[in-house]
Amino acid sequence: MIVRDALPADALAVAEFQTRTWDECYAGLVPDAFLRAQRVPERLARWTETLVTGARECALAEEPGSGEVTGVVSWIPGEPHWELRSLYVAAHHRGTGLAAALLLRAVGERPAQLWVFRENLRARRFYARHGFTVVPGSDHLDAATGVPEVRMSRS
Ligand SMILES: CC(C)(COP(=O)(O)OP(=O)(O)OC[C@H]1O[C@@H](n2cnc3c(N)ncnc32)[C@H](O)[C@@H]1OP(=O)(O)O)[C@@H](O)C(=O)NCCC(=O)NCCS
Repeated sequence: MIVRDALPADALAVAEFQTRTWDECYAGLVPDAFLRAQRVPERLARWTETLVTGARECALAEEPGSGEVTGVVSWIPGEPHWELRSLYVAAHHRGTGLAAALLLRAVGERPAQLWVFRENLRARRFYARHGFTVVPGSDHLDAATGVPEVRMSRS
């Protein structure tokens, strides 16, 4: 697997990958109306802006040869914590270590924080294994989806 910086030219591939991952992982967790409203064109517009402006750092994993995207991670450096903004791995690459490689690429072993859906137990367990703990009292409703999420932090 190749892991490299994402470029503005990757915006469509990232938007398509993110849309597939949300449909697959978050059906039943995120309201259908949100999933129906957030299709490739909407995500493409946001990723294009993000990658052009550099508002977030972003890296992707791709299959050598085919160039198929198998994972995406984005983050924002900061003090004292770096912010992990998104991490997605294709279904057939979960449990392989690719997610860990992308996390390392993004925030290394630094102090870092993230938001995760409260019921996303697989992701919470993954982050816990990488040293993140839930910030007590951090439960709130994600503004975009209305879904409960919790803050996880590593120092
Ligand atoms: C979250 C994600 C990046 C983690 O990568 P991964 O390759 O699946 O992670 P791993 O398999 O290494 O670790 C997942 C942990 O959850 C466990 N797990 C697997 N399925 C589970 C489930 N349904 N419920 C709870 N735990 C589960 C695994 O056993 C493992 O725990 P362990 O290390 O203690 O054995 C990946 O699952 C993913 O892309 N999910 C979809 C998008 C997403 O939810 N992103 C996070 C947004 S904050």
